[in-house]
Amino acid sequence: MSALPGSAEGTAVTGLDSSPVQPASPDLPPLTEQARLEARQIIARYPKARSALLPMLHLVQSYQGYVSPEGVALCAEELGLTKAEVGAVATFYTMYKRRPTGRHLVSVCTNTLCSVLGGQRIMDALSADLGVHHDETAADGSITLEHAECLAACDYAPVVTVDYEFYDQQDVDSARELVAALRRGEKPPPTRGAPLTDFRGISRQLAGFSQYDDVAAAQAAIDAPGALGPTLVGLRLAAERGESAPEMPRSKPSSSPDPAAEAAGVESAQRGAPEPSGRSLADRNGGTDTPAGTEPGTSGQGPGKA
Ligand code: FES
Repeated sequence: MSALPGSAEGTAVTGLDSSPVQPASPDLPPLTEQARLEARQIIARYPKARSALLPMLHLVQSYQGYVSPEGVALCAEELGLTKAEVGAVATFYTMYKRRPTGRHLVSVCTNTLCSVLGGQRIMDALSADLGVHHDETAADGSITLEHAECLAACDYAPVVTVDYEFYDQQDVDSARELVAALRRGEKPPPTRGAPLTDFRGISRQLAGFSQYDDVAAAQAAIDAPGALGPTLVGLRLAAERGESAPEMPRSKPSSSPDPAAEAAGVESAQRGAPEPSGRSLADRNGGTDTPAGTEPGTSGQGPGKA
């Protein structure tokens, strides 16, 4: 069986996949005394020392670009944990990298909505340009490419993040140009949120150390207006059309201890709930919704089918 990072064997992990952890290369900067002091600053933030492990792992990545065996050992020493315990956490979360990352981490959402709008084509194009597959780093060390599960920005699909900053509504051409700019050493401004840094820089922020001189500067960067606002489009259209969601039925506090009677009361309240003031169900079925059971290739599980 493969060993955990930082274990005596130190070069492979078990976890969600069995990809090996690379040992430290000769040009990897060692963790300095400053890193250890910062780890202790993180620990001091928490009532229980072991609660500091997640930001400490980000701190290790900010110095070495991944969770190295040396970083696992440092966390274990400072927290009084075993290296196996630290490794078990580090290999559970995808934000902790098992191999040295490139200068930037490019994540392409290939989950359902992004994928149907072109996310997989973006991933394929970047993969071809960089000569890498998922979780691999380009030969020039500029980019680590990964596919990502839903990045919680489906209304901006297809979404790409660089070092966890969002580049919304991408297509193959814009994503290729974004990556080309990164490889030229440029830092194109994200669509929204804080300015782009790099993987080690964002890891330092995730460890709780700001890149800004003071709180006001950090707040100004984070609150900078984004270029797009589709999240509120549905709300605006609903207001224009006079549509609103029905009131949630409120069941009266029941004095009956009988759960069946209580459930019946809720059902009765739901039957009595008002219809939405906007389009009726019939209107909606005349719109863009596909009536259940009529999709090509389905066997008709919708209403009215046996
Ligand atoms: S499916 Fe891509 S952000 Fe949700």
